Amino acid sequence: MRRKDITVPVTEVTFEELSDIQRRLVALARQATYRSYAPYSHFKVGAAILLDNGEIVTGSNQENAAYPSGTCAERTAAYYAHSTYPDARFVTIAIAARGTDDDEVELPISPCGACRQALIEFEPSADEPVEVILSGARRIFILPSLRSLLPLAFTEF
Ligand code: THU
Repeated sequence: MRRKDITVPVTEVTFEELSDIQRRLVALARQATYRSYAPYSHFKVGAAILLDNGEIVTGSNQENAAYPSGTCAERTAAYYAHSTYPDARFVTIAIAARGTDDDEVELPISPCGACRQALIEFEPSADEPVEVILSGARRIFILPSLRSLLPLAFTEF
């Protein structure tokens, strides 16, 4: 028997410690929450993705009366990015959220399982990891890759 432990490196940073582009992505993810359509949960999520062509694409959660038909912010942004710029590589994704009180959540949220599975497909190689910034009002976390969000993922690549 051989045991293998998988660890996920999470770096906590202050907003001031972010680089200019990281700050811009967090700001855009926060702004994207205002374009969320969340009449059912009242939980507004925004995502901003930096592509290697310099473009930044944003998305927000879009809900539906038939609940499972809605889409999370991360997948809205990822699918929009890939359908608009199919040849561009993802560089960084920033995620922010506002709760029912309308303020940004104190602690960052992390993508749901379905979004993790969808997102890793946009990180085809470990050599080109997609940085993940999880933004909360009180704490900001940075993860080094999408894959680190979903160890032992279902994947063929
Ligand atoms: N949601 C996201 O957009 N991203 C996540 O990572 C988690 C949840 C959305 C789905 C739903 O519209 C609302 O937040 C409440 O679950």
